[in-house]
Amino acid sequence: MSETNRRDFLSASAIGAAALLAPSGVHAAADNMIKVGVIGCGGRGRGAAINTLDGNPDVKITAIGDVFDDSIKSFIANVGKAKSTKDRLAVTPETTFVGLDAYQKVIDSGVDLVILASPPGFRPIHLEAAVKKGVHIFTEKPVAVDAAGIRKVLALVEESKKKNISIVAGTQRRHQKGYLDTIAKLQNDKAIGDIVAGRVYWNNTNSIWFRPRKEGMSDVQYQIHNWYHFNWLCGDHIVEQHVHNLDVANWVLGSHPLRCNGGMGGRVRPCKDPNVDGQIFDHFALEYEYPNGFILQSFCRQIDSCSPGVVEEHFVGSKGRCRMKDGLWFINDEEIKGGPIGPYVQEHIDLVNSIKSKKHLNELQQVAESTLTAIMGRMCAYTGKSMTWEQALKSQENTMPANLDWNGKLEVSAVPVPGKTKLI
Ligand SMILES: NC(=O)c1ccc[n+]([C@@H]2O[C@H](COP(=O)([O-])OP(=O)(O)OC[C@H]3O[C@@H](n4cnc5c(N)ncnc54)[C@H](O)[C@@H]3O)[C@@H](O)[C@H]2O)c1
Repeated sequence: MSETNRRDFLSASAIGAAALLAPSGVHAAADNMIKVGVIGCGGRGRGAAINTLDGNPDVKITAIGDVFDDSIKSFIANVGKAKSTKDRLAVTPETTFVGLDAYQKVIDSGVDLVILASPPGFRPIHLEAAVKKGVHIFTEKPVAVDAAGIRKVLALVEESKKKNISIVAGTQRRHQKGYLDTIAKLQNDKAIGDIVAGRVYWNNTNSIWFRPRKEGMSDVQYQIHNWYHFNWLCGDHIVEQHVHNLDVANWVLGSHPLRCNGGMGGRVRPCKDPNVDGQIFDHFALEYEYPNGFILQSFCRQIDSCSPGVVEEHFVGSKGRCRMKDGLWFINDEEIKGGPIGPYVQEHIDLVNSIKSKKHLNELQQVAESTLTAIMGRMCAYTGKSMTWEQALKSQENTMPANLDWNGKLEVSAVPVPGKTKLI
């Protein structure tokens, strides 16, 4: 940190003052706690830090990193005053990093486990660095925004397994009792017979947040600040959000799709200049084909004043139907009960237990496949063409700008036009 930042940090962290007393190494040697680093200190980074502290008495946060100083300050303020924190926010000015290379410094700071919660465009780079270092990982979803990123992530699966790295992904439904019990009934007990059709939704009643440019921001800074609206960072909302529902479909069906038969998508929200307004769509409607010709319909929408809002996975079988919606699970008329611990905490309990027991969970492959499922849908909607899984995986699209310069200019492409936008 610069001297100014260091001073700001110290004054901003009055709440966390106790947390600043000892460097992480001292704590760890004395008490054998699991040392956690957080990369990306925004909404989810803060949330995940509190979730792991809530669920695991033997973890402490010893390093944090972000590209914006403001996020660091608000992390310290928020996590510092959380009930479960006590003295377990153990970061010091020396273990607090700001900048595009902050991720590497967090990983190199002596942590046992990293929480990756930056915008997803950076995820393959952050995952690669964490696997290389051999630290355990909680990775938010999605794990990439394009096929180049997915190939990088898939290449880490074997290496992470060989190194006994535990990896849990933020597809938290996989750690939620209601989902686990319902899907076990579908798969093991054939509770609705043979599953013959499915549909998944993330249809919002409003549009997504938009963060206007602040004075003095470069193009790169503005795009990272308002990351949801730029594809190299977000991958569009089908990838960023609907990946949750597509992940449930892949889980229920025991496979990723073999092709996306196309569909459609577009943007109702006006766009005068993609460099200002962003370039993402606000609706997608797609058809995925799985083994044995199984068809899954997928819908996601972020348009103001539309209704109903629905976030749901729905499967129809030869003996009935199953609906998983808003924390409720039904097989025909029977309700499957959820558990007392929320999935955002449970996933961190499961991760830490897997580290301690050395029965290493590794969810990288499944979250990479769910992410590619969403990327494939986006490519189909953008181009207006259908596509196989292999075509999606081999796509040469690589959205990460070469030589990213924090103070640099960065032009983005126009909003895609189905039928005209070409598959790379
Ligand atoms: N599992 C879930 O239910 C869930 C919910 C919300 C968000 N998320 C995921 O969490 C991730 C972050 O979302 P959010 O809502 O916290 O966004 P956010 O904008 O609130 O926070 C992102 C933070 O990352 C920082 N950042 C940007 N680039 C960085 C980089 N290269 N290195 C380090 N830090 C960087 C930003 O400055 C910001 O503080 C996304 O992938 C999102 O999909 C998951």
